[in-house]
Amino acid sequence: MSAQARIAELTTKLNHYNQRYYQDSVSEITDFEFDAFMAELTELEKQHPELQRNDSPTYRIGGNITKSFTAVAHKFPMLSLSNTYNEQEIIDWDQRIQKTLNGRPYDFVCEQKFDGISLSLTYEDGVLARAVTRGDGTRGDDITHNARTIRTLPLAVVQTPAAPPPPAVFEVRGEGFMPFREFERINLEREDIGEATLANPRNAASGAFKMQDSAEVAKRRLDSYVYQFLSDTDIFTTHEESLVALKSWGFNVSPTWQKCQNIDQVMQYISHWQHQRHTLPCATDGIVIKINDYALRDELGYTSKSPRWAIAYKYKAESRSTLLKGVTFQVGRTGAVTPVAELEPIELAQTTVKRATLHNADEIERLGLKVGDYVFVEKAGEIIPKITGVDASRAPLLQIQTPILFPTHCPACQTELYRKDGEVAYYCPNEKACPPQLRGRVEHFIQRKALNLDSLGEGKLEVLFDNKLIANAADLYDLRFEQLIGLEKNHVDDAGKTRKVSFKDKTVQNILDGIAKSKEAPFAKVLFGIGIRFVGENTAEKLTDYYKNIDALLAADFETLKNVPEVGEKIARSVIDFFGVEENKVFVERLRAAGLQFEGTTAPVEVESNALADKTFLYTGTFEHFGREELDTKIEANGGKVLSGVSKKLNFLIVGEGAGPSKLEKAQKLGVTIISEQEFVAMLG
Ligand code: IVH
Repeated sequence: MSAQARIAELTTKLNHYNQRYYQDSVSEITDFEFDAFMAELTELEKQHPELQRNDSPTYRIGGNITKSFTAVAHKFPMLSLSNTYNEQEIIDWDQRIQKTLNGRPYDFVCEQKFDGISLSLTYEDGVLARAVTRGDGTRGDDITHNARTIRTLPLAVVQTPAAPPPPAVFEVRGEGFMPFREFERINLEREDIGEATLANPRNAASGAFKMQDSAEVAKRRLDSYVYQFLSDTDIFTTHEESLVALKSWGFNVSPTWQKCQNIDQVMQYISHWQHQRHTLPCATDGIVIKINDYALRDELGYTSKSPRWAIAYKYKAESRSTLLKGVTFQVGRTGAVTPVAELEPIELAQTTVKRATLHNADEIERLGLKVGDYVFVEKAGEIIPKITGVDASRAPLLQIQTPILFPTHCPACQTELYRKDGEVAYYCPNEKACPPQLRGRVEHFIQRKALNLDSLGEGKLEVLFDNKLIANAADLYDLRFEQLIGLEKNHVDDAGKTRKVSFKDKTVQNILDGIAKSKEAPFAKVLFGIGIRFVGENTAEKLTDYYKNIDALLAADFETLKNVPEVGEKIARSVIDFFGVEENKVFVERLRAAGLQFEGTTAPVEVESNALADKTFLYTGTFEHFGREELDTKIEANGGKVLSGVSKKLNFLIVGEGAGPSKLEKAQKLGVTIISEQEFVAMLG
């Protein structure tokens, strides 16, 4: 038998066994036999890499590296759902539908609203060809290699007489998530090796999908549920049919969906799952109610953001009351002082809550809090606990009852606090020496979204600060092995556990390797990492795309900064202020001298024509021929400029599909010329 034929045979066989095991919980062969077939296939693929098939089960184990995720345009935009927290609005929605459908009968399908990462999965000739994240709804990241590690996601669809054959090309939408069980397993493992635990399953899944090494992703054992079928050819007439077919094609369809004949049944479904949802294997944050019939869906249509044929009922946050034992004050990297409520620990939505942010002094006043009060604690989005008010039904604990006084001086460095114009927060002005500010800035710099120096996590940074080896991020690049070896400290983590951090050979080498590697981080990450106020990840990318290198950015003035897409006055002012400070310039120069990236790696825009010279543009909505970045490039390549908002300086507003009304109205008022995508294309000549 040829290698090609054997590879095909093994691929099909192994996919079948996988399917039986993960979907039907049936082991048709022993683990030993399975492993032997896998080993044979791996070896054959190693010898003939060109023969590896797209549906090869070896993708499940991973090992494919994605350096940077390619942006891919969605064939069908990924919309959102309109949300409600109240049952009356569901009834109102139903009545609007009755009216539109003019008395014709219809039924609903109710499903869980899974709280994970939405995925768009394209199948070509029955094989998973591409998995893309939602992104901005128009374009997402190609995470195919990572998605292939999801064992319950068929790499090739299973054809059975029970369902129609799928069209040559189709798309399936669903949610990728980390099951609670895996989340707990991983956190226990991380605790054991002294690594930071993951905050919640959703973030854990989102982080995993964005990992570069799919072998690492495979270890996270992500899972998926699918809930939507899309194709150019109609093969189903109802959503129900599509769910049944998806299931028999081998997809993981949560068995919790239910067809409902009327809104009373929908309400019963809601009240059932509201209580039972913790028995599900993954996080959910509500219920999705959909009209079952596709033809009726077409009649109901879409608003600019969401379908009219579906609505999400979101669970209200759980709320319980507990004792406010005290308030501490934390100083962040910007110097803002945040009050934090110290609570008698309480179980809420299955986690223990001990602390909750009180945001600022006004918030304390608004809530009328005193230490010793019983307060309501709520989890918004089931993640961040917040205090919503005093529980007047419980008498305060008088022994400790005291008013909460906002400090006049910094709790860390004793400098007098001040309030910035128009802001509610109090700030410590001692930017240059206040320890938590210095530490906060370095923490910002080393975080994953910036320079990703995770070798400095978990108390190691603290050791460097305590030993006065660093005061800012640039100091990291001067660290030497001899300075670090042998340092140690007892580290108390967030959970109050004490652990000894000691710098042995391997730890030190890890830290230094991590620091050296961070020099490869792209310009946008560096710019984000240096921590200019209001310059988030996205803005940093816009700035680096526009300016290409740090010298151009340093030389930029207020007016030209405002030409950068999505940069308004506030950000432009903050950038100018930041580079106006001598210490910050020195800081940047030191990082540059250390070898960090201060130049964009993306090719500068190639000039195509002068057709749009001296003209300014802004666009809104989504477009048939261009993604947002493509449109930016097209405009610039033809001599035009993209503005950040509608103003008198704007010449043309290009309006795409699903554009919201606000930009349009403003543009009309200011007499800006409004054009379609076709008219724009015509302008290019
Ligand atoms: S249907 C037009 N069904 O919720 C939207 N979405 O707010 C079609 N989601 O991006 C989506 N569970 O990631 C649908 N059973 C479910 C869902 C679900 C979770 C997410 C999805 C979507 C978001 C919309």
